[in-house]
Amino acid sequence: MKEQLMAIEAEVLDLLGNVQNIKSLEEIRVLFLGKKGKLTGILKGMGSLSAEERPVMGQIANEVRKKLEVEIQKTKIALARKEREEKIKRETIDVSMPGTFFPRGRKHPLTLVLDEIKEVFIGMGYEIAEGPEVELDYYNFEALNIPRNHPARDTQDTFYINDKVLLRTQTSPVQIRVMEKKKPPIKIICLGRVYRSDQVDATHSPIFYQVEGLVVDKGVTMGDLIGTLQVFAKSLFGENAKIRLRPHHFPFTEPSAEVDVSCWTCGGKGCRICKNEGWIEILGSGMVHPKVLEICGIDPTVYSGFAIGLGVERTAMARFNIDDMRLFYENDLRFLKQF
Ligand code: DAH
Repeated sequence: MKEQLMAIEAEVLDLLGNVQNIKSLEEIRVLFLGKKGKLTGILKGMGSLSAEERPVMGQIANEVRKKLEVEIQKTKIALARKEREEKIKRETIDVSMPGTFFPRGRKHPLTLVLDEIKEVFIGMGYEIAEGPEVELDYYNFEALNIPRNHPARDTQDTFYINDKVLLRTQTSPVQIRVMEKKKPPIKIICLGRVYRSDQVDATHSPIFYQVEGLVVDKGVTMGDLIGTLQVFAKSLFGENAKIRLRPHHFPFTEPSAEVDVSCWTCGGKGCRICKNEGWIEILGSGMVHPKVLEICGIDPTVYSGFAIGLGVERTAMARFNIDDMRLFYENDLRFLKQF
């Protein structure tokens, strides 16, 4: 029996010398020291030994078991260390490896132009005003001196929620909302989305952006309007930009003018961009109609004002030489990446 015990010890020690991982080590432990293991098996055979032999064998068996347990524990610690070291080596970060590329976003061309416009007007002391896109007919038309059946309504057909509520066709209703609440001096711009039931084509979209400007105070004149427009045009289109006012009609201003800016591509000589005109139309403007002031509770014999309304898409198209408005809304990265 002693030989058997020694043989088992030798066998286990030999196996421990070659074991590769903790899982195999545990298998060895179960195979020899487990409940049904080889060593346990031998101990069970002790019953057949004589009374003198039994304690001697028992002692040897216990020594072998202890020794093997200690060796297995030592091997386990060594294997655990080895496995940890290998894991660390495997997981080492190579800081020189190329990283994952995250493309950087950029501003949409319309946002770029809106930001520039905002900056110019804020620089002249204007405040930003806001109004709802779902608007009352009263603010969008009626209070702007466009009663029901007025032909100006035909050019601004929109989407009606009901008889009294519609999607605003212009940012001009914000003028009314501001004048109702605030008494002069008033100096605001409003930037926002407007709606019209227009067919989509290269120069039309049922949703587009406008910027509205409004100044009301004592003694505001057409000269103030022209000066403001000149500053605006130079800021957006360069120092050499000139403006030209053409008489026009808007129901809520009197007198009214459409405003052109000199073509910055040809300097006014005429080219493809300005369709040989030398000028490009960018906005509508005028002196606030006395009736409109009155509707808002502002005395037109004391106060006067001017207003401007600008199409942002049209301005951005002119600014960046873009020939199709649809490009703004298609979200094609090949287009958007150019700004
Ligand atoms: N709201 C007008 C439009 O959409 C543009 C406009 C013209 C606004 C003259 C104004 C203005 O404030 O004075 O066609």
